[in-house]
Amino acid sequence: MTTVYLNGRHLPKEQALIPVEDRGFIFGDGIYEVVRVVEGRIFAWDAHAARMANGLAGLRIDATGADSATLRAACERLIADNGLAGGEATVYLQVSRGAAPRTHHFPPAGTPTTVYAAASPFKVNPALRTQGARAITQPDIRWARCDLKTVNLLGPVLARQAAVEQGAYEALLHRDGMLTEGAATNAFFVLDGVLRTYPLSHYILPGITRQVIMDVLGAIGIGCDERPVPLVDLPRVSEVFVCGTTTDVTPVVAVDGRAVGAGTPGPVTLRIKEAFEQRLYAK
Ligand code: PDD
Repeated sequence: MTTVYLNGRHLPKEQALIPVEDRGFIFGDGIYEVVRVVEGRIFAWDAHAARMANGLAGLRIDATGADSATLRAACERLIADNGLAGGEATVYLQVSRGAAPRTHHFPPAGTPTTVYAAASPFKVNPALRTQGARAITQPDIRWARCDLKTVNLLGPVLARQAAVEQGAYEALLHRDGMLTEGAATNAFFVLDGVLRTYPLSHYILPGITRQVIMDVLGAIGIGCDERPVPLVDLPRVSEVFVCGTTTDVTPVVAVDGRAVGAGTPGPVTLRIKEAFEQRLYAK
């Protein structure tokens, strides 16, 4: 039996019900996280909890019942109760502004938030990780606070669907002529021999995997220039990889049907991938 966490209780998934007036449903008015679990260990919990707290503050959603210790305990029990302590798993967490009659402005003070979490088994796709993925480019039509991990994901939903329809895995988004990130990943490029990625700003999600990679880069002695790559320079880019909680380091070997570099995962990507995986799977 699958159990989930809802508003302080662990209960069977079928019994976890949310009012139709929940603002997560009506407005996409909420924040979410996805964390990775390896053999029962939650990877980079503190960073995920900090990003969630920042997102809730950014949307001015009350964080009562969604503090780091409460959510972590909920995740750990979900992993144990659902028999996921032995392999790989993810936990999805979401906090919405709660249920109230529909008004664009906030509901009355004291309206309880909706706090939800669920764990699922996770399987790495080894072909994608080792042989690499295809991507397409898409205009970045998202709002101007992409740093907040809100459940309002229509830009990414449409971009990923376009990718799938073109036989690709990911969509690389571009805004104002610059490549920002993937629909659900951060993106790194090697241009003129230098590793580059979009700087932290309102236009990308501050990915936890991106943050771990920055740390790993220091350890393995690879520099990274946090400077946007112009879309027009894409044909000259010799390596691309995307990263995220469910993506790890995934090489991108073709964009819009054109090979990246030799059309196989490049040497810089492979070094970073190996070093990242050592962190992820460290006991
Ligand atoms: N997505 N950029 C965007 C737009 C994302 O949605 C994600 C993650 C990332 C990578 O962030 P992190 O390394 O913290 O997972 C970057 C999650 C996994 C999702 O929506 O399922």
